[in-house]
Amino acid sequence: MDRIVVTRVPPGTVLDRLAGMGDLWVWQEDRAIPREELLREIAAADGLYCMLTDAIDAELLAAAPLLRAVSTMAVGVDNIDLASCTARGIPVGHTPDVLTETTADIAFALLLAAARRVVEGVDHVRAGRWGPWDPALLLGADVHGSTLGIVGLGRIGKAVARRARGFGMKILYHGRTRNLSAERDLGVSFAFLPDLLAEADHVVLQVPLTPETHHLINAAALALMKPTATLVNAARGGLVDPAALYAALRDGTIAAAGLDVTEPEPISPDDPLLGLPNCVILPHLGSASRRTREAMAELAAENLRAGLRGERLSAVANPEVYGAP
Ligand code: NAP
Ligand code: GLV
Ligand code: GLV
Repeated sequence: MDRIVVTRVPPGTVLDRLAGMGDLWVWQEDRAIPREELLREIAAADGLYCMLTDAIDAELLAAAPLLRAVSTMAVGVDNIDLASCTARGIPVGHTPDVLTETTADIAFALLLAAARRVVEGVDHVRAGRWGPWDPALLLGADVHGSTLGIVGLGRIGKAVARRARGFGMKILYHGRTRNLSAERDLGVSFAFLPDLLAEADHVVLQVPLTPETHHLINAAALALMKPTATLVNAARGGLVDPAALYAALRDGTIAAAGLDVTEPEPISPDDPLLGLPNCVILPHLGSASRRTREAMAELAAENLRAGLRGERLSAVANPEVYGAP
């Protein structure tokens, strides 16, 4: 019987399904599994059902001689050493598509909240400071009709673009390659990153975190943006240099930021970004609707099932494990 290690209780009823696939060991506590615990339990594991908070690196793989399948309940795989998994012949399952629209919703929520100063308004009311209607109170930047820059026009980036069309926005995008079908279907225009940053009224980051994209948004990038601009990061905290973002928001280099993700995560309660009124921060809620989290949990279970049986996974992050395409 295969031994399956589950690093966090997933939402819904998926544990029952996993129990039907093998001998389950589940980390039951309501926090990420400590590294030592995972290193110990992985020693006898055939399959791993993990979260984005678990580092699946060379050390962990070396401690897992029997491991045949890894399945993460996330689309992002920056926590996983894909090359080492591929070298071991281990397919890595992830959860694209099922969370695309839900994550695009949170990116748009952050864009509206940061640009229109929604959280500052809520705080104003809660503090009992709402006086007579004030023609100059908390003036922000328009979202409708403005220019949006999307960095990373993948599944979620395109879903953000579809929302932006409904807001009458002009849309620029940047990626490593031009996407001619998206240019035609969504009316988006390619821009090199410096041009996108300079021309956009609002910028949304939706690229994966890789060595190339780490601190893609640094002081030099922020300096190119408009002083009225909003930066939204609904991808990974490591895309943005947090010290540079703090300085830019404090000094008015840009107007506001909306972050679903930070570096590090969780953000320290003492982090200076938390003291800025023009920085809206959510605790990594991009895919956090009930229906979407259950769909992610199910897809991750299906990926693990297929991996343990030696079948091709329906969503594999390292297709090269199956040989050249
Ligand atoms: P995707 O479909 O793979 O899209 C990623 C896009 O980024 C692709 O269009 C890719 O295009 C582009 N890209 C990759 N490397 C790049 C680089 N160095 N410079 C510029 N563009 C680059 O992925 P997705 O499903 O949309 O997800 C995107 C990311 O969102 C995930 O990796 C994850 O980190 C994050 N995410 C966060 C949440 C959340 O809860 N906040 C939820 C889901 C996902 P090219 O290859 O053509 O460059
Ligand atoms: C969430 O951040 C994911 O990558 O699925
Ligand atoms: C605002 O509430 C207005 O009526 O303009």
